[in-house]
Amino acid sequence: MTVKIAPSILSCDFSRLGEEISAVEAGGADWIHVDVMDGHFVPNITIGPVIVEGARRATGLPLDVHLMIEDPDRYLDAFVGAGADMVTVHQEACRHLHRTLERIRELGARAGVAVNPATSLESIRNVLPNVDLLLVMSVDPGFGGQSYIPGSTSKLCAARSMLDEVGSAAELEVDGGVTAGNAHEVAGAGATVLVAGSAVYRHAGGAAEGVRALRESVSV
Ligand code: DX5
Ligand code: ZN
Repeated sequence: MTVKIAPSILSCDFSRLGEEISAVEAGGADWIHVDVMDGHFVPNITIGPVIVEGARRATGLPLDVHLMIEDPDRYLDAFVGAGADMVTVHQEACRHLHRTLERIRELGARAGVAVNPATSLESIRNVLPNVDLLLVMSVDPGFGGQSYIPGSTSKLCAARSMLDEVGSAAELEVDGGVTAGNAHEVAGAGATVLVAGSAVYRHAGGAAEGVRALRESVSV
């Protein structure tokens, strides 16, 4: 299976957003990952629908919008309207997770659910038929540049088994501390989409090279 690379623009230079997106596109990125933080669900505040609109104008690649916000229902229309192709909400932030996921699909986007490192996979088993993407966080969300939590690999394996068990074709995405050093391991565990922020945008050879390095690492 071909693994997708989804660079996170959280670590890019926002004064040059269009160029930073073009760079990873040139390197062979499959999706653009957009990290939305509200200062409540996570300690950090990042970007809103306006930046998603800007990213939409800059690329034809799918926009993978990761909502790390409380009560995401309030903003689903805005993010899909801004051009999100995929909208992922956190299990921990949704009181009526099933309803939220259905709403994302109703709006015409693909629906994703994310689980924090401390959250069990069992908590999302019942909504697997309602998701197009399962995001396993391999750091506690909030900041780029954190280290991969080693236990995430066995969690990815368990997630892979769970999806296969129910016959789900959902993507299995891993996010946090993914580098060329562990990309092979996470892909081997069954991840189909690798998010990477600092490994791409802080790569010494530039962002395009950062994407290529990840690709090479999963292909060996
Ligand atoms: C973390 C975000 C990630 C982050 C990844 O809260 O969800 O997408 O940008 O950054 P790195 O790859 O630097 O861990
Ligand atoms: Zn993310």
